[in-house]
Amino acid sequence: MSVSFFNKYLKKHKVTVLFIILTAIFSFTFEFINPLIFRIIIDNIFIGKEFYLLNYIILIIISFFIVSSITGYFNTYLTNKLEYNLYKEMSVELFDKILNSSVKNHESNNVGDLMARIMGNVQLASKIVPQILLHMFMNLLLIFIPLAIMFYFNFYLTVVIVSPCILFLFLNVYMGKKIEIYESKVLKINGVLSSFLKEFLSVFLMLKVFNLKDWVNKKFEGKNKEYYNMSLKSGKVMASNYSLNFIFFALVITLFIIFGGRMVIDDSVTIGTFTAFLTYINMFFSPMAQISLLWSEYKSSLPVIDRINEIKEIKIENLGDKKLNITNGEIFFNNVDFSHENNKILENFTVQFSRGLNYIVGDNGTGKSTIMQLICGLYNVNEGEITIDKQNIDSLDPESLLNNIAIVFSYPYLFKGSIYENILVGNLEASKEEIDEVCRLVELDEFISSKEEGYDYDVGEAGQFLSSGEGQKVALARAIIKNSPILLLDEVTKSIDEETRNILSVR
Ligand SMILES: Nc1ncnc2c1ncn2[C@@H]1O[C@H](COP(=O)(O)OP(=O)(O)OP(=O)(O)O)[C@@H](O)[C@H]1O
Ligand SMILES: [Mg+2]
Repeated sequence: MSVSFFNKYLKKHKVTVLFIILTAIFSFTFEFINPLIFRIIIDNIFIGKEFYLLNYIILIIISFFIVSSITGYFNTYLTNKLEYNLYKEMSVELFDKILNSSVKNHESNNVGDLMARIMGNVQLASKIVPQILLHMFMNLLLIFIPLAIMFYFNFYLTVVIVSPCILFLFLNVYMGKKIEIYESKVLKINGVLSSFLKEFLSVFLMLKVFNLKDWVNKKFEGKNKEYYNMSLKSGKVMASNYSLNFIFFALVITLFIIFGGRMVIDDSVTIGTFTAFLTYINMFFSPMAQISLLWSEYKSSLPVIDRINEIKEIKIENLGDKKLNITNGEIFFNNVDFSHENNKILENFTVQFSRGLNYIVGDNGTGKSTIMQLICGLYNVNEGEITIDKQNIDSLDPESLLNNIAIVFSYPYLFKGSIYENILVGNLEASKEEIDEVCRLVELDEFISSKEEGYDYDVGEAGQFLSSGEGQKVALARAIIKNSPILLLDEVTKSIDEETRNILSVR
């Protein structure tokens, strides 16, 4: 699963991956040669008295240290670089996918959970190849090389020593499955926690004034406890898996001492070979323990791929491609039925809005805001059609439709940033003079000049540093600067002062 998932990303970085593998192999070479060198020191120099070999040995050791340190640097650097690149590419892709999804789809998601996926889950996923799979591959190499050397030295002894590996394999597969199941639940709860935090930290003021500190804390504690319990279950499996490896190692060493020891006594192996064997067993066991750890990590990271795929698999609806051509400026709702899930909002609704000022009045929840959202094509109608100058909006390219519409929602939708930027997003091409003009029009100019930072005044998260009227005026300025043929105003006069209201009715 993870191979096909990463295939696309890794293709781009195959040279880096190759360099990571090569540099790792160089860095490890010394470790393999080391026992061979000691074998020569013991058997040839100490016992065989071939002292002239000593100078060569020292030279070899120094050169290997230098090569290992250089390749070690590049290995770590490239591994980190690959991880950060994967993170960047995956998170940008997910963000783009979410931005392209429909409003309806977005409503079915949870913003906090999406944040946890783009940040935490992608971060974990970007480690799978560079930090887990590549290390596993290296450790596999580390196993095979001492294994090959051991087989070369003594086939029979090696078979006896490595036979418990089958047990090791079964154990890891079984534990890995358990870890994957638990971690999938841990990630889900993590998403819930993230949503919870996002939700309640954005209503901080309400929590304060209603003194809900204890109430919300208790809720948080409850959710945290679920997270703790599930993580602990997974942690326990990982710990048992790790500790069982020691039993496996003890088995290997016992077999070696029993069989290898007897061979030394029988003179069928030299003391040098016995010592080298011992080092190779250590060299064999340490990557085995690493593989077991990495395997647990791999299995615990795998569920993030499902969570990322859920975003990647969001269906982008088939959209129309016709360009909107406005002639008379007539918007027509023809027998429209529309519901939010099972909640019917409009039924057999027919109305015509003609060029000029049109008003919609009605009780709360009757569907006034919904009508405006439908005109913007944010939702599809269930029955009937909405046309603009006889062009069904379903057949239109959404960009072309929205280029012709400016809307002020009843909620101003401001984002943290300057007043200037909050207005500019209405029309990214607008000049400073045009923004000046529109601010004068909605009577924001005085407020802006009263601020030391002027246009750079930071409106705060969701516009919290502005009064509701000021926020509404910024939203209004943003819509006016778009200069669209259709301007939709949803309760825009709700909080703005009378003078600005009069300007609106004049326009
Ligand atoms: N995104 C949504 N998902 C589900 N139901 C929704 C959604 N938006 C609105 N509704 C429901 O649709 C109905 C109409 O809502 P709408 O906002 O259009 O009313 P409104 O006429 O603008 O009301 P108000 O005068 O209070 O602004 C309401 O009952 C509301 O609960
Ligand atoms: Mg409304």
